[in-house]
Amino acid sequence: MEVLAKNQDIIEQSLERAAEVMDDFSGAVYKRYFDLQPDAEDLMSHLDDIVRGKMVAEIIRLLFVEDYHQEADYLRFETKTHADSYFVKEDMYPDLLTAVVASVKEGAGDIWEASVAQAWQKKQEDLLAALRFHIVPV
Ligand code: HEM
Repeated sequence: MEVLAKNQDIIEQSLERAAEVMDDFSGAVYKRYFDLQPDAEDLMSHLDDIVRGKMVAEIIRLLFVEDYHQEADYLRFETKTHADSYFVKEDMYPDLLTAVVASVKEGAGDIWEASVAQAWQKKQEDLLAALRFHIVPV
């Protein structure tokens, strides 16, 4: 339990650090994401920066959550809407989280060390598992 709490502290500190130093965190995430996943860029091409920013804000909110059981209803709703209405495929999620973590690393580079990298690896796995559990493949 203590390790979990410590990992969560590391996640929150590095997110706060990245938010402080980066002018356009959301832009950095999407640039990386679309390089990794060009099909996602096609799906998102009609969206303005406000909607794109709201999506990143929601992902950041989820990164501040420690136990994803609390988010089961939300994740079920969002992944189903994404699949049914936005045509988002299950295999588009991992690269998005990878792009988020790489962008945090860019902003929080001065505090990035092995323990921070490990905490993020675990966080990425946990959130992806929670998303996958609810995803309805299209
Ligand atoms: C943790 C994962 C994700 C979360 C929490 C999330 C959250 C959101 C939210 C909250 C919105 C609505 C924004 C608004 O209109 O206010 C949204 C829209 C959207 N998301 Fe995501 N998203 C996720 C992953 C993805 C992925 C992997 C894709 C792949 C391309 C994607 C594509 C879209 C698209 C296309 C829309 C806009 C739909 C429309 O209004 O036409 N999302 N997302």
